[in-house]
Amino acid sequence: MTSLVQHPRVAAASGPASSWSVVDHLDEVTSTHDVALQRLAEGEAPGFVVVADRQTRGRGRAGRGWEDGPAPDASLMFTATVAAGDGQLSLVPLAAGLAVVDAARALGIELRLKWPNDVLTPDGEKCVGILVERHTIADDDVLLVGIGVDVDWRGIDRSGERAAWTSLAEELGGPVDRGELLGEVLDALAVRLAAVDSAPEQLLDDYRAACVTLGQEVDAQGAGGSVISGDAVDVDRTGRLLIDTGRERVAITAGDVTHVRPT
Ligand code: BTN
Repeated sequence: MTSLVQHPRVAAASGPASSWSVVDHLDEVTSTHDVALQRLAEGEAPGFVVVADRQTRGRGRAGRGWEDGPAPDASLMFTATVAAGDGQLSLVPLAAGLAVVDAARALGIELRLKWPNDVLTPDGEKCVGILVERHTIADDDVLLVGIGVDVDWRGIDRSGERAAWTSLAEELGGPVDRGELLGEVLDALAVRLAAVDSAPEQLLDDYRAACVTLGQEVDAQGAGGSVISGDAVDVDRTGRLLIDTGRERVAITAGDVTHVRPT
């Protein structure tokens, strides 16, 4: 399979004039996060991107795993490494979700966000997962922004956890070029991450416009495993989801949120 590194759109999104110093495309890794962490520990400066066709131990949110596509080009899986800036880092997962929505729109695909950053089609099918981790390496704070996109699962029988998912090619009704997609996401990610520091209010307004959770009746995991039920009314300046339970407003920092009436 041709390396995505040679793809003109990926080349245009990386290099000295870009936020992304280098993009490496590997065949098989445990997790692109593992490779990124190893390189950072060896002294490589953040700003590089690791893409892999296969992950044997892909990581998902809340300690879950992340399943590969059945063929190397069915998915796009990568980790972008970012030096933690001065802004509100809790906005980074939201910024990453918005970047995927921006990139998909550039390719003609409309997507939405379920708080914090599950990427859904307008019909509510998930097609992208995002995992942001923060690590301290040699006293420097680094963010790993991991993005897994189901790119083209046409003709593939889904079962189990991913039964309710779809892929971008199914949504578009035609093939999706992984290099175009990667280039678009990397450019959009650079813009949205810069906004975390420089324009957080605009970022949040754009996020609210893309987030289908707002206005919905939801169940969310609160502290200690309790379930908080109510109306999702807003996202605050730190990215927390605000739920009106009828008695009080509760701010949710992390965890899974269920839309009581899925779209
Ligand atoms: C989720 O649970 O929705 C988040 C899944 C994130 C998967 C991506 S694939 C690239 C990167 N490497 C990993 O091991 N996980 C993330």
